[in-house]
Amino acid sequence: MLDKSLKRSVSLIGLMGAGKSAIGRQLASQLGCRFADSDTEIEAEAGLSIRDMFELGGEAKFRAIEQRVIRRLLEGAPLILSTGGGAFCQPDTKSAISDLSVSLWLSAPPATLLGRMSSLAARPLLQGPDPLATMEALAIARKPFYSKAELHVDTDGCSLPQASDLVLAALKTAGIITAQTTFVAQ
Ligand code: S3P
Repeated sequence: MLDKSLKRSVSLIGLMGAGKSAIGRQLASQLGCRFADSDTEIEAEAGLSIRDMFELGGEAKFRAIEQRVIRRLLEGAPLILSTGGGAFCQPDTKSAISDLSVSLWLSAPPATLLGRMSSLAARPLLQGPDPLATMEALAIARKPFYSKAELHVDTDGCSLPQASDLVLAALKTAGIITAQTTFVAQ
């Protein structure tokens, strides 16, 4: 049986389409702990969609709100946090994530990631003529940042339950959650 107490918050990082929200939600329900998605929290705080935020205030404004929201979420009780794809590449946001949680990079090749996205409409960075080329460029530019995560799980070829199991195993190995056997007295 899983010990349901999460010892530290876990921040899921990685490119768009990495499954940070889907895996995070599944993991939180398995562990019985809170889940939050930083993009959803940012939209609630700003009262605007991410796409509108990029259009009206520009990316810099979005990054400032993102940094504040992620720090606030991680300063609370331990939770599983799905972060936006660029969060860990911003120095102040990376510091908040590294200081206040265990960072776990979910990776897969750009074409796989793109294939997992049901819609590109909500993603301002993928509005250009060649989303695959954009994803490939982001993968190259961001790898040096993502590589600094404490844990790494490659999800290429994995279903959602398989990817969640791999993440769970990585967290157990790292001692963030513990597996314990329950004995029933006779
Ligand atoms: C971004 C990823 C998005 C969102 C914003 C910027 C990025 O989140 O934060 O559109 O810079 O990669 P997801 O990774 O959840 O799609």
